[in-house]
Amino acid sequence: MNGLEPGVTAAGDAGTITPRDALVAPAARLRGSLTLPGDKSISHRALMLAMLARGESRIARAGDGGDVRSSAAIAAALGATVERSLNDDGTADYRVVSPGADGLRQPATTLDCGNSGTSLRLFAGILAGLPLTSVLDGDESLRRRPVARIIEPLRSMGAVLRARDGDSRPPLTVVGRSPLRGIDHVARVPSAQVKSAILLAGLRAEGWTSVSESVATRDHTERMLRARGVPVRRDVAPDGAVKVGLEGGADVQAIDERVPGDVSAAAFWLVAGSIHPDAQLTIAGVGLNPTRRAIVDLLRAMGAVIDERANGRKGSSEDDGVGEPAADLTVRSAELRAIDVGPADVAAAIDEIPILCLAATQARGTTRIRGAGELRHKESDRIAGIAAGLAALGARISVDGDDITIDGPTPLRGAATDSLDDHRLAMTFAVAGLIATGSTAVARSSSAAVSYPAFFVDLERIGS
Ligand code: S3P
Repeated sequence: MNGLEPGVTAAGDAGTITPRDALVAPAARLRGSLTLPGDKSISHRALMLAMLARGESRIARAGDGGDVRSSAAIAAALGATVERSLNDDGTADYRVVSPGADGLRQPATTLDCGNSGTSLRLFAGILAGLPLTSVLDGDESLRRRPVARIIEPLRSMGAVLRARDGDSRPPLTVVGRSPLRGIDHVARVPSAQVKSAILLAGLRAEGWTSVSESVATRDHTERMLRARGVPVRRDVAPDGAVKVGLEGGADVQAIDERVPGDVSAAAFWLVAGSIHPDAQLTIAGVGLNPTRRAIVDLLRAMGAVIDERANGRKGSSEDDGVGEPAADLTVRSAELRAIDVGPADVAAAIDEIPILCLAATQARGTTRIRGAGELRHKESDRIAGIAAGLAALGARISVDGDDITIDGPTPLRGAATDSLDDHRLAMTFAVAGLIATGSTAVARSSSAAVSYPAFFVDLERIGS
């Protein structure tokens, strides 16, 4: 991603040039250490909460992909001063100075979320409670993503929202209202984006706002609000259902935060290191929040050898429910075996299912992934995309409704794959290319830059 988003000032920006399409050759061995982009989910939220807090917030080591940049530009368009400086390892430090939620201004133009569903859903929740009229829009892929799931609850809180195609797709117009009414929302599909949109609206509502989910989704919004002085309650039922809630009216305080490495980016190296026959990779400072680390535990259940260390000791750094636990991970080649992945695992590893499918092609036995329908509503229809790409590489993969079945191990042979302009598919097919015979073409691979601009640089370094 080169260039500047409107309203964001930047320093030290060398940029990363990613070719539109990539050709990946098999690697004889994989070795090296990697630092990751800052966690994308946390980076978005840190920028949004900095915009809601009056005063100065500093964010260290945020992700610098296109998605996070979209959120930074939107915070600037709403009246925060946003300065970005790029670090040598590709992460970004931000300084945000904001007048606070009550001082934000009417945006002059459409708010461009680019490819980022998180920007669209979470800003919609914020804007619902501000006395402004705004339009959230994005690229072709974002315009296909569902918004009824946030329109319904935000409307019942008192905001006015409209979208294309019978209120189902962006662009999304939000006419905010202050104050909103608190609601008790029961989520139909587990979604951290929907939960977060409602909690962020709840900050500006009278009374109590809660969201109940059948399984726990990532809880960064809850942790980050607590860290900024907003009490958030979380109740877990014996069956795993979770209810989170907050009382409206609390001020979000400006704080400084350091973003851990993105475990969803780490997942590509964890799988590469596991399925390659001669591999040892170390990944520094990976965020291992309990609601995000499912991919590490699923891979271990498949037999992956992943060493986890923090501060010289086995395991992750401490989890106090406010900060974000992290660890350095080392992965070595392993013999994998198939597993059953149920709907709760799918929700917990929602962004990692494509790369998990690649791991399953190299695992002994039949891996079944059930209830993966939400994958059809991501940056692309990921069920169709992963099945087409892995089948082209020779994998034995079949789809029945929202269930995926993969038989392994199957040697992969290089072929033409298409990322469908979806970053997670682009990176999955590129990792497949490291173990396939011949060369693997990944069409529209530059989509990787929305979450991991240096992915192909890192891929080349560890494989050479
Ligand atoms: C995200 C939540 C997930 C995930 C997305 C980021 C977030 O979406 O797929 O990449 O930051 O809250 P859903 O919660 O809608 O499944």
